[in-house]
Amino acid sequence: MSTPDGIDRTDQEHEEGEIGPVSAAALAHEEKQIRGAEQWDDRYRSTDLVWGAPPDPWIVEQVTVLPPGRALDVGSGEGRHALWLATRAWDVTAVDYSRVGLDKAATVAARQPRTVRARLHWTALDVTVDPIPNEPYDLALWAYVHPDPEDRAAAIAKVARALAPGGLFLLVAHERADAHPDLPTFGAAELSAALPEDMVVEHVEWRESDPHHGTGVDLAVRARRRRD
Ligand SMILES: C[S@@+](CC[C@H](N)C(=O)[O-])C[C@H]1O[C@@H](n2cnc3c(N)ncnc32)[C@H](O)[C@@H]1O
Repeated sequence: MSTPDGIDRTDQEHEEGEIGPVSAAALAHEEKQIRGAEQWDDRYRSTDLVWGAPPDPWIVEQVTVLPPGRALDVGSGEGRHALWLATRAWDVTAVDYSRVGLDKAATVAARQPRTVRARLHWTALDVTVDPIPNEPYDLALWAYVHPDPEDRAAAIAKVARALAPGGLFLLVAHERADAHPDLPTFGAAELSAALPEDMVVEHVEWRESDPHHGTGVDLAVRARRRRD
């Protein structure tokens, strides 16, 4: 559904009775996800730009050598990667379950030229639940999105399957987060195991976390969907 702020919320809006009987586990999961989204909403409301505007340097390094195409930014937050990609001629679908994050990103994007804004599509969705819209993509970004382990493999596989043949999956995430002991961190083996068989892991590296977000180790992975 098109809204005045340009954010598509179609997938999130169900009339009561529309989706039939729902299991207790599904309801518990939905409640957990709503709490997670609300926590991100509060965090984004509490400050100006939580993550700062510049895109992640490893993502910049990986993407600047690519011709522009269609990109999916999973857990786009305040839109630092989506905005950067759109200014480099990528057509970007940015998805996040925090509507405050999406609103902030859309507000920042409103200052961009019309052609850049036209390449940005903000969509409110939960990547552990909802289908990925507008596929296929040439590029999928997953930057610092940390769903619970029981939800993660399916979400990663879903994002990978949204790639066109030859498409790239770039993931950066905390493997160790000293300041956030409760964060469900990522390992490279877990990620490889979650990727569908037609994805090839091309590159894995570890780096110190940006001290701005606390000490720890970050994992950066590039995987590509096979062409045949
Ligand atoms: C640490 S922030 C990273 C934001 C952005 N990727 C960046 O690097 O600036 C994590 C983001 O993932 C979003 N997120 C977490 N779980 C999600 C889910 N299940 N579905 C959609 N978005 C999710 C949060 O709302 C938040 O905006």
